[in-house]
Amino acid sequence: MGTRWVRVSVKLDRSKLVKWDDLAMSGVIECTEDVIKKAAQALKDGNLVAFPTETVYGLGAEATNERAVSRIYSVKGRPIDHPLIIHVSSINLLKEWARAIPDYALELAQRFWPGPMTLILTRSNLAKNFITGSQESVGIRVPAQPIARQLLLEFEKLGGQGIAAPSANRFGAVSPTTASDVEKELGNFLSRNDQILDGGQCLIGLESTIIDCTNPKPVILRPGAVTSEMISNLVGADLGSNENKVKTSGLLELHYSPKAKVLLGKTVNPGDGFIALASIRTPKGAHRLASPSDVEGYARELYIALRSADRQGINTIVVIPPEGTGLAEAIRDRLLKAAGR
Ligand code: TXA
Ligand code: MG
Repeated sequence: MGTRWVRVSVKLDRSKLVKWDDLAMSGVIECTEDVIKKAAQALKDGNLVAFPTETVYGLGAEATNERAVSRIYSVKGRPIDHPLIIHVSSINLLKEWARAIPDYALELAQRFWPGPMTLILTRSNLAKNFITGSQESVGIRVPAQPIARQLLLEFEKLGGQGIAAPSANRFGAVSPTTASDVEKELGNFLSRNDQILDGGQCLIGLESTIIDCTNPKPVILRPGAVTSEMISNLVGADLGSNENKVKTSGLLELHYSPKAKVLLGKTVNPGDGFIALASIRTPKGAHRLASPSDVEGYARELYIALRSADRQGINTIVVIPPEGTGLAEAIRDRLLKAAGR
């Protein structure tokens, strides 16, 4: 049948890597701004563009174009009542999409944007039902990854107001953290003029922290790299137990699951996959899938390891979750969801 869509390798100018120098480690080298301009135009023309962020890859469409947004749902196989996050280039665009923004939400935005954080706010008239799943709230994020930022800037120059982007996986599956995983996951569902921008491996590797800002106090709906400590240190609020709140959220995806069965901290049988910090030895007969040396490495490698198990036809993955607070909470949250079936 031949390729029906385009994958573009974007090379990034190191001089532009002001905040995210670490990206060099993911193999991103030089920039062709032209490629990003064309991708922005493709979005304006109603096509889909998958792009890297510092968390995971997103599947983008113009957030004000109902037909383009409906394609996100069909490509992902996602139920229509699941709301999408809108990505914008800066905090200045917040008031276009949201109203009645509490002061603590502005403080969070000023401190952690651009970055791995999504704020849920009361929607403006611009955020239509086809974005919010007919809810009165809307999710907004300013990503930090330089390709994502450049794409947003070029898109906004063309009159775009925001890019709606869920993680670039089929509904319920593991989020992709490399362009080739996006390709494997969605390649068969994309069309001729859709694109995948290749920005190497995502720096964080877990989805953004989602904070509900529609109440007097912030509530973490999904833990991430902006941690509960960072949030409560800034806004001085007692956030309570995040892990319980996440479990009771009916709005979030239930699973971030590979095909293999995920078991947490159980006995390992020969042939099982095994994921744990490097300090934990591989049990006899197990296939070691990842040996991250710290919690950051764990987050970055986890989804790649889960996908690699599926590719190798491994049926069961035994995972030893990291202990402690911060990013470890986000890892445990995703592992509980991956295992919860
Ligand atoms: O890191 C990320 O957040 C990535 C990158 C691409 O930005 N995006 C992402 O999007 O993970 P998605 O759609 O896969 O997950 C967003 C979650 C969904 O579970 C959705 O239901 C929830 O956020 N969400 C979005 N808007 C919401 C809203 N208004 N109220 C409550 N939950 C919302
Ligand atoms: Mg997702």
